[in-house]
Amino acid sequence: EKDGHDWFMRKEIYEQPQAVADALLGRRTPSGALQLDEMRLSEQELRDVDKIIVIACGTAFYAGLVAKYAIEHWCRIPVEVELAHEFRYRDPILTANTLVVAISQSGETADTLQAIRHARVQGSRVLAICNTNGSTIPRESDAVIYTHAGPEIGVASTKGFITQLVASYLLGLYLAQVRGTMFGDEITAVVNDLEEMPAHLQTLIDRKDEIYALAAELKDARSVLFLGRHAGYPVALEGALKLKELAYIHAEGFAAGELKHGPIALIEEGLPVFCVVPPRGRDQLHDKMISAIQEIRARGARTLLLVEEDDPAVASYADSVIPLPRVPVLLQPLVAVVPLQLFACELASLLGHDVDQPRNLAKSVTVE
Ligand code: F6R
Repeated sequence: EKDGHDWFMRKEIYEQPQAVADALLGRRTPSGALQLDEMRLSEQELRDVDKIIVIACGTAFYAGLVAKYAIEHWCRIPVEVELAHEFRYRDPILTANTLVVAISQSGETADTLQAIRHARVQGSRVLAICNTNGSTIPRESDAVIYTHAGPEIGVASTKGFITQLVASYLLGLYLAQVRGTMFGDEITAVVNDLEEMPAHLQTLIDRKDEIYALAAELKDARSVLFLGRHAGYPVALEGALKLKELAYIHAEGFAAGELKHGPIALIEEGLPVFCVVPPRGRDQLHDKMISAIQEIRARGARTLLLVEEDDPAVASYADSVIPLPRVPVLLQPLVAVVPLQLFACELASLLGHDVDQPRNLAKSVTVE
């Protein structure tokens, strides 16, 4: 079943171009408008939404953080993102106009399930973003966007995560269409960008040997840091989680702007730091990231830069460059996460760990 691969996780990383293509399949009507087939909420209900709360755990929570950046930008609806177990026990403010979006690959995560039950009792609508047809969370939700990644066997989520991102973008674009916060041709342009993703992901997977060589070089690292900004920040968190759970190496993700508020004290000679560099654009994100990289490099960090190809600004600050295809900043998580998945998978494998069944973890966490 592993098709000749040593681990399901590796196979599932390589399946991501197809998973993204499948997640996008059938989402446009003949006239080009977006459609979501199990969106059982009426257009009026979606227009009435005045707040979105995304709830999830682990990797799915990081997909939720990306969803916030996209949905707030495209739809101008306030979006909160919260760990399901924290949300459930803090008396959250929920009304009939709150849309709760539950993201779960398995659809069985007890923390997330309890949270949606709580939200529905309070009268809020719940939309599930889920990979498992007929699982409990979509069954107990008012609407669902299935991610269509196919079965995910490896405990660490990969194609599950990437298709949660796609579903989140589709939700944001659909809300923008219904609420009129974007023009049709703007929505089409983003959908076109999404449709180019499978080819971009394939390019990254074809370059896997460079990442595997990096993993071999860094296999004795005792700690690895990950920095990002904007939509790259959740990618940093995800890169760190993958390394912790698979390689059992201490890893932390930080928002680059937060460095000077504390974490920069951790930087010492030779410490590997992955940096997700935002694409060059009209905003200052890219330049601010470059100055953060200069700061840590001056203090001895070994900088591993995930950066769009042919970015002339970074060469002199990079110990290693991991080239990314040129994509809009909001979509960059789709491409930036792939090298980090490959890195964690390979490093754990080199260390002799069971990549598909990391110690102490279960694929679906059905207890609170
Ligand atoms: C990490 C990982 C977990 C899950 C989390 C939520 O690689 O897989 O953090 O993302 O347990 O699981 P689901 O998405 O099934 O609710």
